[in-house]
Amino acid sequence: MGFINPFDLTDRRILITGASSGLGKAIALCCANMGAEVIGVGRDEERLQQTQLELNAISSKPHRTLRADLTQPADRDALVAALGAPINGLVQCAGISRLSPVRMITEQHLREVQAINVEAPMLLTQALLKRNLIAPDSSIVFVASIAAHIGVPGVAAYSGTKAALIAMMRCLAMEVVKRRIRANCLSPALVETPLLDATAALLGSMDEERKHYPLGFGKPDDVANAAVFLLSNASRWITGTTIVMDGGLTIT
Ligand SMILES: NC(=O)c1ccc[n+]([C@@H]2O[C@H](COP(=O)([O-])OP(=O)(O)OC[C@H]3O[C@@H](n4cnc5c(N)ncnc54)[C@H](OP(=O)(O)O)[C@@H]3O)[C@@H](O)[C@H]2O)c1
Repeated sequence: MGFINPFDLTDRRILITGASSGLGKAIALCCANMGAEVIGVGRDEERLQQTQLELNAISSKPHRTLRADLTQPADRDALVAALGAPINGLVQCAGISRLSPVRMITEQHLREVQAINVEAPMLLTQALLKRNLIAPDSSIVFVASIAAHIGVPGVAAYSGTKAALIAMMRCLAMEVVKRRIRANCLSPALVETPLLDATAALLGSMDEERKHYPLGFGKPDDVANAAVFLLSNASRWITGTTIVMDGGLTIT
């Protein structure tokens, strides 16, 4: 028999949130390049349309992009209803980051980051599981952050949501393992995406930060390649874990 590429995603149907921008979009395109059929989710119609065009240029699979504000129960229900058939992979990448030192955090700020970074992925996963829309042998990937592992001034609320996501993922991994569904997290440090541009605009420059990264800031494809690994058979023995990817930040 010929060589079977363990990273191949042919015959996988993968739902990716946050596919209109940054890491989620890179993951969507990378999955399509590895042979998957992609269903991308976001809010911004124009950016979603662009993702759709780029997916169509990669393969003739029936890729789709769907608009949903994942903090809204009605939008989550409509998304789940629109799927039609079970998925084999789920990447929960939609998220926001808001900078604020603890003494300035407002209740609204806390609730906003909690709603999209924790409640939305948990409730979307639940809705999919309840309707048996996550097929046996699927892989679920949550995009957490290095902020869940180390202290970074100004990101307490965000860090808390990502730490919650990791803790939740471990319990979920225990619950779904009987169906050979796996759940894991990726914890990237700074990656060059629009989210980072927003932070840079706020801080003026990222040059100080960059000095702490022996391998430099990450590129969206660095995270996408790790997502492909976790979604593919190459990681069939890995569940309940978190891959820290930080260009050497935490060993310096
Ligand atoms: N960039 C980094 O350095 C970095 C590092 C570690 C972790 N992360 C994590 O990686 C994830 C993606 O970050 P990114 O850098 O790619 O950010 P980004 O470019 O700002 O993209 C964020 C994505 O989330 C979607 N989104 C936000 N709120 C949503 C909502 N209520 N409903 C549906 N979709 C929503 C956005 O959709 P629309 O634009 O269509 O609204 C967009 O597709 C986040 O969870 C972030 O915490 C990023």
